[in-house]
Amino acid sequence: MTAQLIDGLALAKQTRADVAARAAALTAQGRRPGLAVVLVGDNPASQVYVRNKVKACEEAGIHSVLEKYDASMTEAELLARVDALNNDPTIHGILVQLPLPKHIDDHKVIEAISPAKDVDGFHVASAGALMVGEAGFKACTPYGCMKMLESIGMKDLKGKHAVVIGRSNIVGKPMAMMLLAANATVTICHSGTADLAAMTRQADIVVAAVGKRNVLTADMVKPGAVVIDVGMNRNDEGKLCGDVDFDGVKEVAGWITPVPGGVGPMTIAMLLVNTLESAERSLKSA
Ligand code: GUN
Repeated sequence: MTAQLIDGLALAKQTRADVAARAAALTAQGRRPGLAVVLVGDNPASQVYVRNKVKACEEAGIHSVLEKYDASMTEAELLARVDALNNDPTIHGILVQLPLPKHIDDHKVIEAISPAKDVDGFHVASAGALMVGEAGFKACTPYGCMKMLESIGMKDLKGKHAVVIGRSNIVGKPMAMMLLAANATVTICHSGTADLAAMTRQADIVVAAVGKRNVLTADMVKPGAVVIDVGMNRNDEGKLCGDVDFDGVKEVAGWITPVPGGVGPMTIAMLLVNTLESAERSLKSA
């Protein structure tokens, strides 16, 4: 192996310890940070994700409320819950776990969350703030990826070419905007890209966020490049794996994130950071 590992677990642990210290200071001032996590239905993956989020809150001294509803909950009922949480002074962050049951419009629900409590960074106002460089909550997964880059000394990306594979609203698009804000030259690739390998071979930084195994193989990577793997897939043996052919790419890349133990833990850590910052802002504006 030639590549060095970017240890997301270790960085997330450190981030969570920082959050815990700041949360304790806020709690001492009577403003304990609070996160509401709303789960509708019984998607097994979502159940694991929300459990991990609530557990992480507890460990960081953040108050958390897990609201679980049956898949038959109506859109109007969910909107009413979001409205109540928007007006709950003990709650500084609201996370409605996606995907929602098909009869509920995701977009409508996300837009109902107050941008001041949108710790997922999915609201149009949050996405717009990122686009124009204003203060707003940053989507947790790309935010975590930026922190991983910073951890290896890549904070200012002037002169670097970053290639993002994937254009989702949750990862690909905000990732590209954050890389751009850090002065990288950014290319966004997707299913309509004619020659993906020709693009990735030019990249100093590749972020793979497609949700498909082996999207990035060793022949597609410039020697020494930084490779960030956002994918969360299962291989034929049922083992967790990313979008990157880790065994091949690690022989070519300079730095690489593992799956598991890479981006995943950082996503949760950044959710805590956003919740904490929301509580800190509410204290300042009180
Ligand atoms: N579903 C998968 N990832 C996420 C996430 O980061 N936030 C929410 N709300 N739902 C998700």
